Amino acid sequence: MKGENIRVSLGRKEILHGVDFDAEPGKVTAIIGPNGSGKSTLLKALSGEIESSGKVALNGRDISELKPWQLAAMRGVLPQSSTVAFPFSVLEIVRLGLANGLAAGDDTLPSKALAHVDLAGFEHRSYQNLSGGEQQRVQLARVLTQVWAAKYHDKPKWLLLDEPVASLDIAHQFTVLGVARNFAAQGGGVVVVMHDLNLTALFADYVYVLSEGNVWGSGTPTAILNDKTMEQVYGIDLPINTLPKGQVPFILPQAMKHDLTV
Ligand SMILES: Nc1ncnc2c1ncn2[C@@H]1O[C@H](COP(=O)(O)OP(=O)(O)O)[C@@H](O)[C@H]1O
Ligand SMILES: [Mg+2]
Repeated sequence: MKGENIRVSLGRKEILHGVDFDAEPGKVTAIIGPNGSGKSTLLKALSGEIESSGKVALNGRDISELKPWQLAAMRGVLPQSSTVAFPFSVLEIVRLGLANGLAAGDDTLPSKALAHVDLAGFEHRSYQNLSGGEQQRVQLARVLTQVWAAKYHDKPKWLLLDEPVASLDIAHQFTVLGVARNFAAQGGGVVVVMHDLNLTALFADYVYVLSEGNVWGSGTPTAILNDKTMEQVYGIDLPINTLPKGQVPFILPQAMKHDLTV
């Protein structure tokens, strides 16, 4: 997936100022950056959900030339938050993944997808009565069902996920990021907006850092998660550590404790 010179304006304001972006199938590519830096806007531009100038190519095809059903067959999108206005059951939500203008998909996929996000047996629960984290996992099951059901088996499928672990407990953060890693291991592409830098360091192959609507930098987690990034992008003086085994960088906020008193 390739984005070239992506500009997005919302209202009278330009939100993204010419972003170049490249993600490879078989890899997990993370997008990080402070609140309001344009992460969700970039993901929406890459998914074709909002208008942008510049060019976005998915599997070598310009997305502006793809029909909605072709797009739906190639990539699934998990938005940052989803509101469901009707009293749907969990199964009804996940089954929406089968219905993206494609031929009737395999009806066993929704339950399989629910099992992947640790919600086996939740099919007949009411979506509205689930916790925020459970709802988020139901939405991921819907997206998985969509990409599994789609044709185009000769081309990589893509998952575009906006903060998929933001409201999850630590075990389910690993469940969901494990789903993303497995998807990539099987040849799919994953583009994921991440909030948690430590999880990003653990799970991402490559990281884009956004700042005020521009790409500030990009690189492997080890290369890009460093003291300079913390200071210049996040504006905090917080040194990055690394674990001896495998050299995975990590940030320990405990070092900031002395700054928390008012
Ligand atoms: N529909 C909109 N109209 C105007 N401004 C918007 C709209 N959506 C987002 N923005 C602004 O664009 C900037 C980037 O937003 P967003 O991409 O959601 O940031 P992030 O996901 O990195 O937190 C923010 O300053 C936000 O206020
Ligand atoms: Mg966002």
